[in-house]
Amino acid sequence: MAVRRITTHKIQQMKLRGEPIPMVTAYDYTAARIIDASGIPMILVGDSMGHVVLGYDSTIPVTVDDIVSASAAVVRGTTRPLIVADMPFLSYQIDAETALRNAARLIQEGGAQAVKLEGGQAVAPIVRRLADAGLAVMGHIGLTPQHVNRLGGYRVQGKTESTANQVVEDALALQDAGAFAIVLELIPVELAKKITETLSIPTIGIGAGVYCDGQIQVFHDMLGLDPDFRPRHSGNYANLAPIIKKALIRYSDDVKDGTFPTEAQSFYVDESRIRESATNPAELGD
Ligand code: KIV
Repeated sequence: MAVRRITTHKIQQMKLRGEPIPMVTAYDYTAARIIDASGIPMILVGDSMGHVVLGYDSTIPVTVDDIVSASAAVVRGTTRPLIVADMPFLSYQIDAETALRNAARLIQEGGAQAVKLEGGQAVAPIVRRLADAGLAVMGHIGLTPQHVNRLGGYRVQGKTESTANQVVEDALALQDAGAFAIVLELIPVELAKKITETLSIPTIGIGAGVYCDGQIQVFHDMLGLDPDFRPRHSGNYANLAPIIKKALIRYSDDVKDGTFPTEAQSFYVDESRIRESATNPAELGD
């Protein structure tokens, strides 16, 4: 029997059972295969690819085409996890019909099962339009990186009573609009706890403490793929940059001093087959 992907219903059941929900980002086929094998139930094809894959200094330049092609690669590399595709900056804010058209591309061309968009009350009508059309929508509040130019930096949000109340209102508006889960990014632990206890849908935290229903991290951050930067909230699950660098230096040295390739990586021609092919070229092949 074919193994079916995790559904939003299953993610909701995990909250009801009090079973923590791990989630991680992915942007390519190879990483997706490793995540699939780890058993992590949900993957975000995040616009964080702007930072960690494309080398931009924000997520703002990421396009719908970027996310469509990354989603399709991640879908090809997985069998089990629910794939959520991020809606890039200005792909959903202009009007609900534009949002629907772009979300449709992420689902139909990218193969994702759900989309995620940033913002609270202001985008609730868009979430409602997408949900009414049958899409599974994940919200994202607290620090919303697409608003970096208005926020003036990547800072903890909801630290005062009024801003904390606004984050709670945003969460409720998204839930009422039909979101199936909400990312809470960089908010105080107490606020994330209050929202998680208030909502009936799962909260997925990043830099929002232990009381969220699930946690998400950026693949490259948690695995230490950037030698110069690792956010405090990402944890230290591996430090791969120096390991990869060491392997590449060893490879480069081996090529330069002629110790790579060796016999083990070399292929030779079977002389008798060359003689045969001279008379019958169709015989030269594997
Ligand atoms: O794009 C992304 O990776 C995200 C996570 C930080 C939640 O939105």
